[in-house]
Amino acid sequence: MSACSLPLTALLTASFVASGKCETQSDFHDAKEVDTIAFGSCYNPRDKKDVMFDTVLKQNPDIFIFLGDNIYGDTKDMKVLKKKYGELEAVEGFRKLRDATTMLATWDDHDFGTNDGGKSYPMREASEKIFLDFFNDPADSPRRKREGIYGSYTFGTPGKTCQVLVFDTRYFRDEIPGTKKKKKPGTVGWYEPTTDVSKTLLGEAQWRWLDEQLEVPADLRIIASSIQTLSFEKGMENWGNVPHEQKRLFDLLKKHKAHHTFAISGDVHFAELSKKDLDGYPFYDLTSSGFSHTSKSWAQANNSFRVGSSHWQLNAGLIQIDWAQKSVELAIINPKGEKILKHPLKLSELKFK
Ligand SMILES: [Fe+2]
Repeated sequence: MSACSLPLTALLTASFVASGKCETQSDFHDAKEVDTIAFGSCYNPRDKKDVMFDTVLKQNPDIFIFLGDNIYGDTKDMKVLKKKYGELEAVEGFRKLRDATTMLATWDDHDFGTNDGGKSYPMREASEKIFLDFFNDPADSPRRKREGIYGSYTFGTPGKTCQVLVFDTRYFRDEIPGTKKKKKPGTVGWYEPTTDVSKTLLGEAQWRWLDEQLEVPADLRIIASSIQTLSFEKGMENWGNVPHEQKRLFDLLKKHKAHHTFAISGDVHFAELSKKDLDGYPFYDLTSSGFSHTSKSWAQANNSFRVGSSHWQLNAGLIQIDWAQKSVELAIINPKGEKILKHPLKLSELKFK
C-alpha cells in the first residue's frame, strides 16, 4: 500500500489528522480555523501558582503551545520524571485548558530531564516516550516514528492557513564545551557564541525536516522554539550561542521565501519581544516565560534586539490573527489577562524580498 492510500487516522481531535505525506504537508493538519493562539513556558507545579492556566483559558484560545520547562523534571530516574508529570496532571487549571484547546507542546532542558542538557543526556529516549504519552501524542504520530519530538501542524483552509513548526532544541543538541565563562556585565549566564561549526542545535534529521516543511503553503507560520532565536548577549542558552545554526535557520527562511513567519520562545523567566532585520525581512521572536516563576534580574540582561521593555510579571503569550484584515497582534498578558506588551503587524510587512 502506498503512503497515498493510507487511511487518515483521526488524531487528538476528531478533525486532526496525520499527514499521508503524498505531497509536502505538515505532520498533522486540522481544517479548523485558528485566530487565537496562546503559549507559555516555565511552570513548576510545586510552586502552586496556577493562575496563568485560568488566565489563558479566559482568552478562549484555539491552540495553546506549551513551550518547554513545562515541569522541572531534572532527573535520570524515569519514575521521578513520571511522578513530576503526574504533579502537572493534578493541576486543575492545566487539565481544563488542555480539555478546552488543542494543546501542542515541546520541551526545554528541565522537562527533557537535565539543566542545560542536550544529546548526551542518557535517558533521552525514555524521556521522549514519557513526554509523548503525557501529551497524548497519537499512536501513529510521526513523532513516535523518529527520534526527537519536533513536529509540524497546519490549521485552517487556504487563505487562512496557519502552520506551527514545533522545534526540538534538546534531543540532538551537542554540548558546547568551553563556553561556560565568568559572567560579564549585562549577562546573567556563562555562555558565549561558539566558533566550532561542527556543533549542532537541531541535528541533521530535523534540519532536513524543516527544509521540507517550509515548502508547505501557509498564510501564517509560527516557529515554536523553546529557547530564544535572536538573543545572543545574555549568557543564557539561546540560538545565538550557535551562530552558524542560527544563520542556517535564517538562510532557510530566505531560501523558501517563508513570508509571514515569526518565532515564539520561552525559557528565560521573563517576557520580551525581539526583532532582527534579515536583509529587509523583519524577523520577530515573542518570548513568554514564567507561568509560575520569573526573574526581575534576568529581565535586565542585555538584548540589543529587544523592542520596548522586558516584563517580569507572570505571563503568557497571546497571538490574535485577523484573517479579514490580514493582520496579527503579538501580545504578552499578565495574570489579570491585561496586555502588558502588544505589537500589531500587517501580514504585508512580513515579506521576504
Ligand atoms: Fe530552560
